[in-house]
Amino acid sequence: MSFYITTPIYYVNAEPHLGHAYTTVVADAIARSRRLLGGDVFFLTGTDEHGQKVERAARARGMTPQAFADLISSSFRELFSHLNITNDDFIRTTEPRHIRAAQALWRRVRERDESLLYKAMYEGWYCTVDEVFVPETQLVDGKCPDCGNPVERLSEESYFFKLSAFQDRLLEHYARHPDFVTPESRLNEITAFVKSGLKDLSVSRTSFNWGIPVPDDPRHVMYVWFDALTNYLTAAGFPDDQARLQRYWPADVHLMGKEIIRQHAVYWPAFLMAAGLEVPRRIVGHGWWLMNEAKMSKSLGNVVRPQAYTRVFGVDGFRYFLLREMTLGHDANFSDEAFLTRYNADLANDLGNLVSRSTTMIHRYCEGRVPPSSSRYEDAALAQKLDDVFALAKTRMSESYLFSLALRDIWELIGVTNKYIATREPWALARDDSRREELHEVLRQSANVLRVVAGLIEPVMPATAGRIRTMLGIQPETWHQLQKKRIEEGTRLGTVEPLFPRIDQSVEELRKMSDPVVPGQTPAEAPQVAPGDARISIDDFMKVELRVARIVAAEAVPKSKKLLKLQVDLGTEQRTIVAGIAEAYAPETLAGRTIVVVANLKAAKLMGIESNGMVLAASTDAGKPILLSVEGEPGMRVR
Ligand code: ME8
Ligand code: MG
Repeated sequence: MSFYITTPIYYVNAEPHLGHAYTTVVADAIARSRRLLGGDVFFLTGTDEHGQKVERAARARGMTPQAFADLISSSFRELFSHLNITNDDFIRTTEPRHIRAAQALWRRVRERDESLLYKAMYEGWYCTVDEVFVPETQLVDGKCPDCGNPVERLSEESYFFKLSAFQDRLLEHYARHPDFVTPESRLNEITAFVKSGLKDLSVSRTSFNWGIPVPDDPRHVMYVWFDALTNYLTAAGFPDDQARLQRYWPADVHLMGKEIIRQHAVYWPAFLMAAGLEVPRRIVGHGWWLMNEAKMSKSLGNVVRPQAYTRVFGVDGFRYFLLREMTLGHDANFSDEAFLTRYNADLANDLGNLVSRSTTMIHRYCEGRVPPSSSRYEDAALAQKLDDVFALAKTRMSESYLFSLALRDIWELIGVTNKYIATREPWALARDDSRREELHEVLRQSANVLRVVAGLIEPVMPATAGRIRTMLGIQPETWHQLQKKRIEEGTRLGTVEPLFPRIDQSVEELRKMSDPVVPGQTPAEAPQVAPGDARISIDDFMKVELRVARIVAAEAVPKSKKLLKLQVDLGTEQRTIVAGIAEAYAPETLAGRTIVVVANLKAAKLMGIESNGMVLAASTDAGKPILLSVEGEPGMRVR
């Protein structure tokens, strides 16, 4: 069974913030849980690069829209790779495959019924921040009712999509598929909106040109939402790849923030119906992260950068917080205090204790091997709790996407197990030779709970799940195996390591430490991109010392999918460089290659290995690295 899940494609008008990270982490956790169930998963994310808003943001930096889109799109991609997101594809709407698909969809609608896309004059208001047309009657003090920004008057020739013709079909679809939009309250809003009467939708513009040309009428560019929504079809193989379309279309889940449900639940199915294509199965809307009571957003500037938090709490700590703190469908307040509390209470304390106690005692009392089971000492209540939590958490994660509740239940299991260990006092049992079997059963049962906990938290905290398994000495398991099996007697445990060290500083102290560790706020468009002219001087360039290097040896970095440890010859010295190329190059193929490295980069520790320098590689659209190769001798400067 295939399972196709998407996030919105994000506008490239500014750097990503926590809101974008959130949706993508939720989608990742869903995708991972589906893979653990053995599904054929296709998980798509990407960037929405056309339209007036992006064009203006680029111009404000003195850049072309394409160069600006390249820059911001790559920072989304970097963030997602940093957050351990397992998207199978990353789509950009400026890619040729997408331009072809959007034009094919347009043509297909016109070929089926020309009257569905007709030309007329558009007179009215437009909100560039939301990229939406706003009817005069909905203006609030002359501003956009959704985001409160000023609107602009448009008066231009435009193609209209005959949305009004789809009112009945849409209502019928909602009635037949009551879970087409979740949460249910959103479906009610959408139904009411459609019942109130649909106006035809302007779907092209002539007053600017940063968009996909309308087929056979290139004075017009497509309205950015017609272009953007089509991305979901492009990645599924539209228009040419029939086999792929068969496999993945219709999409199972379009996940998004609640502000764009209307585009997905009204416009998108109408476009698809007009083209004679199947509509997606489910539109899932989530609430907003609020900061100082307002939606965290680029246009308000009240955003936080995920990296500031992963630096302190780790990637898994960050993912855990997002998924535990927000109940799908509701808004949630973001605060540093809540973050710190959750981290210390749930991760350092509850999970940390269970891991360190159960593994340490098996090392101490059972020579580091999982002890044998004695069923007569098995605690039936704990075993039952384990089964119940497993069944419930599995469904909540993979079907209803209620991660907050699933995690709450898993933490209840952790709490019950910690309490079980405290009341059974294995350290006391260990002093009494006649109670050996009892001791063994307590430790075996705790280790088995831990094994299931590791499997259950994997979609949310993949690296932590791996580290727990390493400590337990066990291999990854699918959820079917997790449920059927028990931890095996005799399994040799790995070394015990601290998982989430307690953070004893206060939020105020954390904020003061180094370059803003936990910023209360950072301005929307602050870092990374230089304002105004983004070009650099030759002096800036010469600061980067590029040199030819020869790879002497390469080996895999344990526990890392992406990293290789390279030994390189720089003519006058040999160095260790850790490079993220493992998914594209087998280590044994690399020795002898002549490459280019940045030789004067500050040392950095990656997976515990000190890396001195960086190798240069090109990157395909899918993020695959291609090493730069060069003729020349080790040590030669490149400029
Ligand atoms: O709307 N809380 O892109 P966008 C939670 N390009 N999620 C948030 C959030 C917050 N405060 N802020 C943003 C667009 N998000 C269009 C989409 S799809 C065919 C085109 C997340 O850059 C959330 O998923 O404005 C929201 O829907 C999305 O970012 C909007 O990103
Ligand atoms: Mg937005």
